[in-house]
Amino acid sequence: MEEKLLEITNLSREFRIGNFLTGKKMLAVDDVSLSISGDKPTILAIVGESGCGKTTMAKIILRLLQPSSGRLRLQGKDMLKDYSAKSFQHLVQPIFQNPFESFSSRRQVEKYLIDTALAYGGAKNRSQAVEAADKALRSVGLSYEVVHGKYMTQFSGGELQRVSIARALITSPKLIIADEPVAMIDASMKMNIVNLFKSIRDEYGISFIYITHDLSTAYYVSDYIATLYRGSLIEYGPSISIMENPAHPYTELLMNSVPHVGDKWKKNIRMSEAETREFSLNHCKFASRCSYATEECRTSRPVNAQLGDRRSVLCFHPLVSRKD
Ligand SMILES: Nc1ncnc2c1ncn2[C@@H]1O[C@H](COP(=O)(O)OP(=O)(O)OP(=O)(O)O)[C@@H](O)[C@H]1O
Ligand SMILES: [Mg+2]
Repeated sequence: MEEKLLEITNLSREFRIGNFLTGKKMLAVDDVSLSISGDKPTILAIVGESGCGKTTMAKIILRLLQPSSGRLRLQGKDMLKDYSAKSFQHLVQPIFQNPFESFSSRRQVEKYLIDTALAYGGAKNRSQAVEAADKALRSVGLSYEVVHGKYMTQFSGGELQRVSIARALITSPKLIIADEPVAMIDASMKMNIVNLFKSIRDEYGISFIYITHDLSTAYYVSDYIATLYRGSLIEYGPSISIMENPAHPYTELLMNSVPHVGDKWKKNIRMSEAETREFSLNHCKFASRCSYATEECRTSRPVNAQLGDRRSVLCFHPLVSRKD
């Protein structure tokens, strides 16, 4: 049987909102299961409205946040038990939204690359580290010569994000987790960064989790799409099937409302109390917005239906027929 690169099983994370006495609990990530193939490098896009749990998922996978329950396996290893920071950093690297926050303005950018090459990239001395930095920078369209002696303020956002990607590549990871990596990049440079993910996948066999508000780039770049709604994974499967034939009514709604380059949901919208309450509903969380909802949807929780095209959908009445 194929060993998965990443396997997430029934993962949940609860937060308490409000103060200790009057506060309530909410499930920011609610029973999410998904996996990334170990055989074929894959780009998985995680999409969903602001506050649906994307960053919480990313932080759990990056081991920055402890889940409340569930399992997390990387190359078959239980990351919640057999966790070694060094071996983990070899395998999984993050790329954050704001590249200017990843570097200090008082430190030359090349130092970050050199340090990474010495600590995690197998370089035994400075000249090997420079060589590794140059190789990684060339794969993102830069070179050691171009960054040499420069500070972060001397780069554009797009260039600096490419340096962040180069730094991640130095450790030869198997998985890069990029949380909103193009949100702060000029529109003209967004596609350039997103295209890099594709070429890195193909050239180096690295998989990506690409978290984004920008649905058009998600559909363009990804092999698989996971759509979150109020902490639940409501549809997961090959991007092409989801794009052509959404199975969940919420995904159908998204398909009808988006893809133009740069279209996205509004950032940082404050959720109403009613919306926050939806995180903890004991029936389908989308029922109140769903034009196909039946009595069953308003009274019980749906379970994942497996469809014939490696897709799962959290819905009593998927729009695409179930596997027999
Ligand atoms: N440390 C925390 N304490 C309490 N609640 C939290 C905490 N972190 C996140 N949340 C809540 O969990 C929910 C999911 O947040 P998360 O940041 O994962 O969403 P997101 O999908 O990344 O949103 P965005 O698209 O705006 O980045 C939100 O309702 C958020 O307010
Ligand atoms: Mg986020």
